[in-house]
Amino acid sequence: MADSTSVLPRIAVIGAGIFARTQYIPRLREIADIVVVKAFWSRSEASAKAAVELARDFAPEIECKWGDSGLDDIINDQSILGVAIVLAGQVQVEISLKMLKAGKHVIQEKPAAGSVAEAEIALSYYNSLNNISLTKPIWALAENYRFEPAFVESGKLVKEIGEMMNIQVIVEGSMNSSNPYFSSTWRRNFFGGFILDMGVHFVAGLRMLVGCEIASVSSIARHVDETLPPPDNLCSLFKLENGCAGVFLFAVNSRSPKILWRVDGTKGAVEVERSVDRGKHGYMVSYFSENGECTKTFHPFCGVNEELKAFVHDILHASKGETVDYKPEPRYLYVEGARDVAVLEAMLESSSKEGASVLVKNF
Ligand SMILES: *[C@@H]1O[C@H](CO)[C@@H](O)[C@H](O)[C@H]1NC(C)=O
Ligand SMILES: *[C@@H]1O[C@H](CO)[C@@H](O)[C@H](O)[C@H]1NC(C)=O
Repeated sequence: MADSTSVLPRIAVIGAGIFARTQYIPRLREIADIVVVKAFWSRSEASAKAAVELARDFAPEIECKWGDSGLDDIINDQSILGVAIVLAGQVQVEISLKMLKAGKHVIQEKPAAGSVAEAEIALSYYNSLNNISLTKPIWALAENYRFEPAFVESGKLVKEIGEMMNIQVIVEGSMNSSNPYFSSTWRRNFFGGFILDMGVHFVAGLRMLVGCEIASVSSIARHVDETLPPPDNLCSLFKLENGCAGVFLFAVNSRSPKILWRVDGTKGAVEVERSVDRGKHGYMVSYFSENGECTKTFHPFCGVNEELKAFVHDILHASKGETVDYKPEPRYLYVEGARDVAVLEAMLESSSKEGASVLVKNF
């Protein structure tokens, strides 16, 4: 046992908020056989300690780190290969770049950035880091939708339905006062509010499904629910690079939650819908063939787990000096997250111009 754990890669988790406690800790517990959590960091000592206690059962030697000196300890700990950045959207990029500059591999939570401008500056800085070692550290952007089997599978099925005729994305969310993120301060002070923070997931799902970039958008955003930060409703028409058009309708809070993506093609259709099957939350993928037959397959959620496994796998290879030709998992490249942000930013910009067509920044 001692021998096998001593060769496992070590990571630190930077951030101890709701998502770190309720998602990262359980998912890291599930993969404790492939990665050791060496430290948990938070700005405050109290929240770092609370997170460490939740993780101690599967990471007995976990260290508690806080404040600037705690961050420096993590940077200087050569046994820590990678860090997971799970912080407020406003500070994630700054801390990610600090860690990358120090040579740590990074997996950063979405949204990739608060704006296209921030993502562009960050990417150019990252691309200038070739000087650290033979290859740059990996900068992964954690977007679990790209790792959900439902989107991987439905992306393959879309290739079977002939030419795409139209696309629908309908998101009637349930961000009300019962939701643990409802009162999250940083989301309320973030450009685009919940539309940007939640919206990147639905855009990521759309891009996975159609396998094509969104070229331009025309939208109207509104503020309807006064308990939410503005805007909380978005109605958008988009055009893909392949010429196909679609609609993207998003209400942050609705009384009738529904989350659906549908592509109608000349030889069938593919639909992905959030659902519950035998107590498990996940997605129902429906494939309608040319003769009208429908095949349904349910895929439970496992994206957060899959992306963390891919990151651990990649940093292990990178640390073994297999770096020169080693290509990290393409689905979590930072630029993918920047593309999701660019679509939402273009939608919001279009609304500020009364629905004028806006080109999506091409990364
Ligand atoms: C590498 O380049 C970055 C950005 O230009 C710079 O901040 C950093 O100090 C350099 N690192 C080394 C080890 O030279
Ligand atoms: C919040 O939304 C959920 C899901 O629709 C619902 O079950 C719950 O009653 C809602 N809570 C409030 C306070 O509206």
